[in-house]
Amino acid sequence: MVTISAAHPNAIQDAAAILRAGGLVGMPTETVYGLAANACDGAAVAKIFAAKARPHFNPLIVHVNDVAQAREFAHFTPHDEALAQRFWPGALTLILRRKDKATLSDLVTAGLPTVAVRVPAHKTARALIAAARIPIAAPSANPSGRLSPTSAAHVAHGLGDAVDMILADGTSAVGVESTIVDCTGDVPYILRYGGVTQDEIAETLGCEVAFHRAEDDDAVKSPGQLLKHYAPSIPVRLNAIDVAEGEALLSFGGIKFMGVRGGGAAADLPDDRLRHLSKEGDLYEAAANLFAMLRDLDQPHITGIAVMNIPAHGIGAAINDRLRRAAQA
Ligand code: TXA
Ligand code: MG
Repeated sequence: MVTISAAHPNAIQDAAAILRAGGLVGMPTETVYGLAANACDGAAVAKIFAAKARPHFNPLIVHVNDVAQAREFAHFTPHDEALAQRFWPGALTLILRRKDKATLSDLVTAGLPTVAVRVPAHKTARALIAAARIPIAAPSANPSGRLSPTSAAHVAHGLGDAVDMILADGTSAVGVESTIVDCTGDVPYILRYGGVTQDEIAETLGCEVAFHRAEDDDAVKSPGQLLKHYAPSIPVRLNAIDVAEGEALLSFGGIKFMGVRGGGAAADLPDDRLRHLSKEGDLYEAAANLFAMLRDLDQPHITGIAVMNIPAHGIGAAINDRLRRAAQA
């Protein structure tokens, strides 16, 4: 059995020692839990890919504690400087040009000339990076293609013995992954919607920032965005205005007027078939609940998950992106 430890100072020191020795640690962050390894140790990074059954062409995010630590292996453009200044520590990942003599494992970057970097805000993640004194590669701590974990229990359930230790520190407050922004080209663009909104990015840079939908021809630029993702084991139906027999409901806002096909009100569904992302229609609350509630409803006796329409503005863009991919057959 994998050890789950509350994030006390001693446990953080133990976790740092495991990382320095080439092991894997489940690490809480404010977005989702990560599967951490020493980003400079190729053998350790290889364990991440094995534990997740992740395709090797899909590069990892490197977590550091500040811009200075990132500069050891990456170049910042003026746009990157502005975004880092405003959103780090936080739910933003920057795609940066990698320095030539950087000591990072080539597996981390999947051979790309760029590297994804984030400074997390979660106090335990920060303490772990500081104690380990190394850059930490960490994808979300789930088997490739499945729902991302927002608690230590989710990590244990998905990866179990493949992890040497899990640091437990509550549920992830943001609940969806970081926003990924690429400023290496002529115009900046968003590669993945996440915890920081498109408007916040545009406002900081003083220009429009488009979302770059990954097509087959730019697999090299945005490798992870092509994959089926965030999938529960039962079908997900979007923009539901009613609930089919056998389905569960993931609601947003009021459900007073929503019915169940064949008779009955959605509000009377039994507890195991009903989760409210946010009764008040708060998108931040909905993001924080999203993955855990999809997990709750992903049960063998339920035929599918009906999800109500969720506004696409603000962090709703990230929620809709994850749901759209969860609904892909
Ligand atoms: O919030 C998060 O970002 C979480 C926490 C643990 O930090 N991490 C996370 O990692 O979501 P992961 O591996 O699940 O997603 C990272 C994404 C992938 O889609 C990957 O393709 C992309 O980042 N990525 C990594 N390096 C890249 C690069 N050099 N160029 C373009 N995309 C890159
Ligand atoms: Mg992931």
